[in-house]
Amino acid sequence: MRIDILTVLPQLLESPFSVSIMQRAKDKGHVDIHIHNIRDYSTSKHKNVDDYQYGGGAGMVMSIEPIATIIEKLRAERKYDEIIYMTPDGEVLEQSICNQLSLFENIMILCGHYKGVDERIREHYITQEISIGSYVLSGGELAAAVLVDAVVRLIPGVLNDETSALTDSFQDNLLSPPVYTRPPEFNGWKVPEVLLSGNPKEIDKWREQQALERTKTRRPDLLND
Ligand code: ADE
Repeated sequence: MRIDILTVLPQLLESPFSVSIMQRAKDKGHVDIHIHNIRDYSTSKHKNVDDYQYGGGAGMVMSIEPIATIIEKLRAERKYDEIIYMTPDGEVLEQSICNQLSLFENIMILCGHYKGVDERIREHYITQEISIGSYVLSGGELAAAVLVDAVVRLIPGVLNDETSALTDSFQDNLLSPPVYTRPPEFNGWKVPEVLLSGNPKEIDKWREQQALERTKTRRPDLLND
């Protein structure tokens, strides 16, 4: 999968993709991430990327021209399955969206800033608008990092243990059951007996029950879906 990210703050996106699973996914050729500085496409003397909003009011708006230039350039090079805009008024991200996106070949992600982007970009180029939750960040970069992380780990081959993405919380609309590792007892706090039993059937049953119980108490909305 190829991911192109358009941003005015490329520095914010350096480290999230250069460690751990993301770096390994890049090294193994599962994902190719390209970060583009929108400022490089500004034709104004001072490399401006924003301007005052028509009609007045506080806050700057991201200008149409540099963003349109870079989107047109990239679109001429390949076909994009989705051109995504990260924005607090988008559709709230959930696992099913990540599953869908993980199947695509090329996606482009535009990170918003200031008051947002000139609406004509949204009307004419953007195919999907995503929010990572009902709160406002200073910009779309951290939201884009969240989206990319959640999507890339689902690409087959990225995780060592193929089943581990499938047993994540939310994959079956259920939260994950509790997990334990050694030692079997610490401060008198014991690991549930069944997990030490070596009986795979009983262990599976216990995990299912725990997942269901956890979902009922913490996220009953998932069970209604
Ligand atoms: N940009 C600012 N806040 C955001 C959010 N909650 N989700 C996505 N993009 C954003």
